[in-house]
Order: sequence, then structure tokens, then C-alpha cells
Amino acid sequence: METNNAFKRHRRLRVNPAMRALVRETVLTANDFIYPIFVAEGENVKNEISSMPGIFQLSLDNLTEEVKEVQKLGIKAVILFGVPHAKDEHGTGAFIDEGIVQQATRLIKQTFPEMLVVADTCLCEYTSHGHCGVIENNDVDNDASLKLLADTAVSQAKAGADIIAPSNMMDGFVTVIRVALDEAGFTHIPIMSYAVKYSSAFYGPFRDAANSTPQFGDRKTYQMDPANRLEALREANTDLDEGADFLIVKPALSYLDIIRDVRNLSNTPVVAYNVSGEYSMIKAAALNGWIDEKAVVLEKLISMKRAGADLIITYFAKDVARWLNN
Ligand code: PBG
Repeated sequence: METNNAFKRHRRLRVNPAMRALVRETVLTANDFIYPIFVAEGENVKNEISSMPGIFQLSLDNLTEEVKEVQKLGIKAVILFGVPHAKDEHGTGAFIDEGIVQQATRLIKQTFPEMLVVADTCLCEYTSHGHCGVIENNDVDNDASLKLLADTAVSQAKAGADIIAPSNMMDGFVTVIRVALDEAGFTHIPIMSYAVKYSSAFYGPFRDAANSTPQFGDRKTYQMDPANRLEALREANTDLDEGADFLIVKPALSYLDIIRDVRNLSNTPVVAYNVSGEYSMIKAAALNGWIDEKAVVLEKLISMKRAGADLIITYFAKDVARWLNN
């Protein structure tokens, strides 16, 4: 028979599972994940978030069990969000030594010294108005907020946080936090900057979980416009100049182009934040029996790595680690 060179036979490399494994370009492992935990003040708290099935607000007495499971699954890092009882204008609960995230950090580092604790550094969970900084003239005042953010970062590092992750989108936050950490003796603590954070409707369920919905207005004067791409490069470049050690792109699914752009921009580790609304959509469809949850989740997370993410912050981390282990 004559050899047909008229076309390429791509199917040769898809012929069976072994061949497909041999040529697979992207893999997921438990090392890729950072698992978010909502730590609540109080005792005996284990509140499932109604818009996020399988995700709970946990008090300190329930935290150890959760982190033990995370560790057993091979996940190396958790990111903590606080759910305090009291809130005030300045978000005091974010930067006091007895803040809920500081307490949770100390507990985790005492009990599981190898577990990396990432501290989300923001004020919105602690302010009475729900914004990510101090309010002046009905808007968040950039420079007044920076001082409180720096205090928050230092108090989190003092409590034992391994990575500081500022998420409030004030200009200059990496510089101010880097200087404050260095002055306090934490030169070795990296900054995982939410460098590119869009003003996104996909954060809705998180705001249920963290009780952090803004009480007036929205976050559009500090979080980015979803229509913009070049602006993401400006944000990422600025944070690199200011000394960020990781760059987060958030959300992930509707922003895979941005993940790729940021990947191409630098050699710094890129983190995709697979946010709450992205979790809820898949959960809702799965609970209705409309999609194959496992297959859809794996495909989504692979797409983030393929786009260029090195790490993924995801509420699916435990599920996926379990699937990968089997
Ligand atoms: C705090 C913060 C938010 C998220 C992470 N850090 C909420 C927001 O900016 O409104 C959202 C995460 C998610 O939706 O999973 N600023």
C-alpha cells in the first residue's frame, strides 16, 4: 500500500491511555494547591456556607481536624480568611495579635509546623462598612489604608504566617508591606500579591462566607475593570518592581488570557485564584446532575495550569487531592 503523506496523523499519539500519558503536557498534583479556610470566632462553629456546599466557617476548636485532613491529602498550604464577631471602621480585628487569623495561624503552626500558612491581608472582613480600607469622602483612602495593611501583615508574620498575601488592591501595597516586614525582621517572608484582581461578580459566595459584602457602593475604584487586559500588565509589572514573590490573577476561569499574559511577562510564580463563584457554579450544576463534577473540575483546573499558572488557590483542593490519590 502506498504511504499517504497528504495529511498528518495526529491520532497516532492518542491511541491508548499509555501513549496519551506519555505525551501529556500538563499535570495536576496536590503540590499545586492552596486550600482556603474560613476561621470564625466562637466555639463549636461549623457552618456550611449555603452558596458553597462542602465549605464551612470553622472555629478554632474545629480547625485542627480540618488541617489534619488537608495535610493527610498531601496539600502543602492553606490560606486563611477571618470571620470575626466584632467589626469597626478601621478593621481593627485584622491587625491585633488576638485577631482570629493570628490565633488560627499560631494554632496551625504549633500543631502542623510543616503546613504553610498563607495569610490573606485585607480589611474587608473586619470593617463595619465592608470595604478593603479606610473610608474618606465615601471612597477608600489609599494611603491611610496602607498603614493598616502593613500592620496587618506584620501581625500575621509575628503569628507565624509563612506567606503574606495582600488582596486589597491599594496602590503601593507591596512596597509598604515589604518595608514593614523587613523592619520587623521578616525579610525571609515572601509576598504573594493579588497583583491582578478584577472587580468580579464571581466573589459573591465568598462575601456570604466572610460576611464582607460592602455596605455601600462597590469595589470598582480599587479592583480592576473586567474589560481591561493591558492594565493587568501594568499592575503585574508594578508589583514585580515593588518586590512581589508571587503574582496572583483573580478570578481564574474568565481570565485565562490574563494568566497567560502574566506568565509571559515574568519568571515569578503565577497563582490562579479559582474563586468562590466558580466553585458554586460547578457545585450547583453537579448537584443537579447536569455535569460530571469530577471530570469538569479536573478539566477546569488543568486549563488554569495550561494557561500558565504554577499554583491554584481552590476550594476544590481537598476533592482533587483525594481523586489524585486514588
Ligand atoms: C478580600 C478577598 C475577597 C476574595 C479573596 N480575598 C473578596 C473580595 O475582594 O470581595 C474573594 C475570593 C473568592 O471569591 O473566592 N478582599
